[in-house]
Amino acid sequence: MAFVTLEPCSHHGRTPPCCDALIAAKIGKVVVASTDPNPLVAGQGLARLRSAGIAVELLPPHSDAARASRELNIGFFSRMVRGIPWVRMKMAASLDGTSALDNGVSQWITGERAREDGHAWRARACAVLTGIGTVLQDDPRLDVRLPEVSRQPHLVVVDSDLSTPVTARLFEPLAGGLPRQVWIYHAALDPRKEVALRERGALLTHLPGASNKVDLHALLRDLAKREVNELHVEAGSKLNGSFLREGLVDELLVYLAPKLLGAGAGVSSFGPLQQLKDGIKLNFTSVDREGDDLRIVARVQGRDAFLQTEQG
Ligand SMILES: NC(=O)c1ccc[n+]([C@@H]2O[C@H](COP(=O)([O-])OP(=O)(O)OC[C@H]3O[C@@H](n4cnc5c(N)ncnc54)[C@H](OP(=O)(O)O)[C@@H]3O)[C@@H](O)[C@H]2O)c1
Repeated sequence: MAFVTLEPCSHHGRTPPCCDALIAAKIGKVVVASTDPNPLVAGQGLARLRSAGIAVELLPPHSDAARASRELNIGFFSRMVRGIPWVRMKMAASLDGTSALDNGVSQWITGERAREDGHAWRARACAVLTGIGTVLQDDPRLDVRLPEVSRQPHLVVVDSDLSTPVTARLFEPLAGGLPRQVWIYHAALDPRKEVALRERGALLTHLPGASNKVDLHALLRDLAKREVNELHVEAGSKLNGSFLREGLVDELLVYLAPKLLGAGAGVSSFGPLQQLKDGIKLNFTSVDREGDDLRIVARVQGRDAFLQTEQG
């Protein structure tokens, strides 16, 4: 007997069909937690197993196991059903909500345990996204360093004016020699800068939207085409604010340090709103301690509706 979280596939993707492996292994029964929303599979995997004489049990869609399996594959379901990745935004701030001082200093607000945990969340994403403000201010690598990994998420930079310096550390080879791609989305056209960035290995995509800025909706659709299931946003208050204002964030991963930093940049600059009822409503999913800091995971209300309506 085999237990699987997702309907075994019946088509050739990156790997041969999983159904064929189960049939070849002469499995008597397969218990499936969830059907595959991929139109290339969508029930055909189950049909193929049954026609090979294998008993198939599909768990009820509202059972704990079925829900847990869809949660586990939330990015994949998001991409298949909505055509965009699951967007998780990471923020680190003091207890009074400051994510960077007025002079730009933000390293480090939280402690080592929280940063290590943040890297583990980066690691589960297919891509990490940041804004040009963070690239220019911090010159970060935005790779996964603290837990050992066998795969690095790709890096997405929202850089409307093509201001990423060719000397930026994000172009440097990663520890362990693991490959990753750097995808720069831009709105302006500047052939000289484009050539220079391509020479550094960046993959450039021209996606102009309103006000000469990158079209963030189109960016998410493009990332889904590149098979990004989960997107980890780690940007400053400006780009965070734009993502939130445009309703593109599904989940927040917030680290709060037990300190007060007073005036500075907040975690996101959207608004100002006129009424309290216009705020973005969240549900807390979990609240935990990471060293001295708090980690809060909160989901924007209604954003995971696609998981509930799945056929199961
Ligand atoms: N504490 C944390 O969790 C954390 C995480 C990351 C960064 N930071 C801090 O944040 C600070 C940088 O913040 P920041 O706000 O200047 O940088 P940012 O949010 O990373 O990037 C700002 C840039 O994003 C682009 N942008 C904003 N809205 C956009 C839209 N609708 N469409 C396309 N592009 C858009 C704009 O670039 P264009 O003008 O080119 O369009 C804008 O200048 C640094 O001090 C860094 O240390 C803190």
